[in-house]
Amino acid sequence: MKIKKIAILTSGGDAPGMNAVIRAITRYSLAKNVEVIGIMHGFTGLRTGDYFSMNLRTVSDIIHRGGTILYSSRDLMFKTEEGVGEAAEFCRKEKIDAVISIGGDGTLKGAQCLAKAGINSVFIPATIDNDVACSEYSIGYDTAMNTAMEMVDKLRDTAQSHEKCSVVEVMGRNCGDIAVRTGIAVGATAIIVPEHEYNLDEDIIKRIKYTQKMGKRHFIVIVAEGCEKTSQIAKKISEETGIQARCTILGHVQRGGSPTLRDRVIASTMGCYAINDVILKSRVNRAVALSCNKVVDYDIGDALKFKKCFDEKLYSNALEISI
Ligand code: F6P
Repeated sequence: MKIKKIAILTSGGDAPGMNAVIRAITRYSLAKNVEVIGIMHGFTGLRTGDYFSMNLRTVSDIIHRGGTILYSSRDLMFKTEEGVGEAAEFCRKEKIDAVISIGGDGTLKGAQCLAKAGINSVFIPATIDNDVACSEYSIGYDTAMNTAMEMVDKLRDTAQSHEKCSVVEVMGRNCGDIAVRTGIAVGATAIIVPEHEYNLDEDIIKRIKYTQKMGKRHFIVIVAEGCEKTSQIAKKISEETGIQARCTILGHVQRGGSPTLRDRVIASTMGCYAINDVILKSRVNRAVALSCNKVVDYDIGDALKFKKCFDEKLYSNALEISI
């Protein structure tokens, strides 16, 4: 199969490093005489034919920028047979030999729909949540954690000065990865995640009271979204311990900002890999992933069967040393 033209799109929640992967794919493809088009607004643009031609300069000055120059969306129409049919028709009309979809697990499902509709499809994981089960790492995760850590460090200064408790909600949808790693990095007294059952009285309040008895005067509690309401947790801590607890929801700030070195390097490596080791080798319907710190790829159907593992050891270590 001679690959002459590919399309790239970004879908779902944006993640820092998406631009770095777009840049790598574009430059690597052009060097191999493969034409590249950028699809706007994720799968929506693939259905409606919203695209532009990419050249060397289209991707200049973006490696350090958060967000995505291709824009993103969560396209409900693409969840229907009709929507996927429209996208497939566009790909055939434009003679697109392969589509690279960059995003989280929703995007992986979208990439599988394209493959099922007969369009050569490649997926690259990019989501701050790090919840794409087939890959131990998703582009954007490192930047998001560093942002969360910096924000909590600032909250810590004021919690320390006023001897208060800062209850901070971080993103992650149903995945506690951001919470656990941010929690260990900021020395959180308690970390609440959806993967680990907890009892507010037994595991959180009692723990805060114990650390208070051991001389602790300010406290940080990290809560992953998808658990109990963070404001309710803060209220209960205040009521039960007498320590003033304040709730902060970090929200979308975690999705923005300049990607870290780690995200730029992994994005660039995965982008080159998708062209050189997958598409140019005529290996399609593949999901690119990181395994044991190496870039690999899986059949998209198999990639969807992986189960996300939770790092219990890191979680228990974090609690052990934050007393
Ligand atoms: O998937 C990334 C993410 O930021 C999740 O952490 C969060 O649950 C969700 O997207 C928020 O989505 P939206 O920006 O559409 O509210």
